[in-house]
Amino acid sequence: MTDRSCLSIVLAAGEGTRMKSALPKVLHKVAGLPLVGHVVAAARGAGAGAGDIAVVVGRGAEEVRAAIDSKNGLLETFVQTERKGTGHAVLAARDAISRGYDDLLVLFGDTPLVQSDALLTGRDKLAGGAAVVVMGFRTDKPAGYGRLIEDNGALVAIREDKDCSEAERAITFCNGGLMAIAGEHALALLDAIGNDNAKGEYYLTDIVALARDRGLTVVAAEVNAQSVLGVNNRVELAEAEALWQTRRRHAAMIDGATLIAPETVFFSHDTVVGPDTIIEPNVFFGPGVTVDGGVTIHAFSHLEGAVIGKGAQIGPFARLRPGTELGDKSKVGNFCEVKKSKVGAGAKINHLSYIGDASIGAGSNIGAGTITCNYDGLNKFKTQIGERAFVGSNSSLVAPVSIGDGAYVASGSVITQDVPGDALAFGRARQKTMDGRAEDLRARQRSIKDASSK
Ligand code: UD1
Ligand code: CA
Repeated sequence: MTDRSCLSIVLAAGEGTRMKSALPKVLHKVAGLPLVGHVVAAARGAGAGAGDIAVVVGRGAEEVRAAIDSKNGLLETFVQTERKGTGHAVLAARDAISRGYDDLLVLFGDTPLVQSDALLTGRDKLAGGAAVVVMGFRTDKPAGYGRLIEDNGALVAIREDKDCSEAERAITFCNGGLMAIAGEHALALLDAIGNDNAKGEYYLTDIVALARDRGLTVVAAEVNAQSVLGVNNRVELAEAEALWQTRRRHAAMIDGATLIAPETVFFSHDTVVGPDTIIEPNVFFGPGVTVDGGVTIHAFSHLEGAVIGKGAQIGPFARLRPGTELGDKSKVGNFCEVKKSKVGAGAKINHLSYIGDASIGAGSNIGAGTITCNYDGLNKFKTQIGERAFVGSNSSLVAPVSIGDGAYVASGSVITQDVPGDALAFGRARQKTMDGRAEDLRARQRSIKDASSK
């Protein structure tokens, strides 16, 4: 990596009207992360330090700022109050640019598939002496994009779709929107941009011709179309999600996880999956999941905010909610929900349970249908279960309550008092069996029926 300083400017002042949403466009999510969050992450990966990312926001400035601040730490935001074009938007960050950087990267906040490699290519070319680097892509549907006008292999101008001649409109090499600009020339070029064009906007793309006029080196670098895919409506949002997921599944498999039907597994932007983990079909990861190695996640499981230890087994049809920690080789089986709970190594919750605000010691067995009653309608309470405890099927553990190491709870119990270690607790009515009384009962039932049918 070069030791040149770098400022990334992320343009996120788009109206986003085609999203038909109360939410600013760049806050719509792909893989659980706002679009602009993906772009900022790519900028970080390209070497811009934490203080060296400027996000230009417009509508919903406060919301955008809050979303980025909380997730990405230190970065600056600038407000573009009037939307007068991409060149004008970049200059909203004038104060940051004026600090003087070697490299300037311009990115669009609605291109979530952008990757650091493309940005690094741009920076390499700046280091090699270029003043402006434009990331272009090829497409057989160029309508709407700025066309890269080349002369003998050199980039001479970018012509916006609306300003193209008939011949220029046929060009299929287009501006992806990503640009790298040498810091020493940036302000002079940006300030020279005018708005004499079909849209009456200040086009960032004009700096190509402006730099050429000044005898500076301008080059185009080709990137794949995916990495500059812009999201303008919900259809494109779904397309970006699909492409992102395809990439992530591929990476998970390359890193040593088995995905039986990869196209049915959905990752979050921050999912971590260890090697030799097997993920069966139809598994969904919400944000904040870390899975160690050798884990099996059976079909139709939904995980969010959970840390899974080595060799654990989950599902099928399990739901792990935020704050779940599963120890090594533990098991959470079918139709179980676990929330904000710690499950010790080798512990088992195999069938039809709700475990919330609980801790379960190593080697304990939680029987089918066990419920932690953690909520009284107003407050939440904790359930503590020691090691090697056995909770019989269909028990209700009314929190706050604790069950000691090696304790045994009889099935069908409603446990409202603490159970000491190695104790046996019954929390249910004693069974009464009356010989022959079934026949008496049936006789009574028959006479009621006969009376009513008369
Ligand atoms: C732009 C490029 C075009 C390129 C295309 C790629 C210009 C003049 N044109 O066209 O060459 O092929 O992207 O997708 O740059 N923005 C602001 N403030 C503004 C205007 C725009 O923040 O005043 C932001 C938008 O939120 C968006 C980005 O800049 O993220 C691009 O703006 P947009 O109007 O979508 O440009 P295009 O016409 O698509
Ligand atoms: Ca656009």
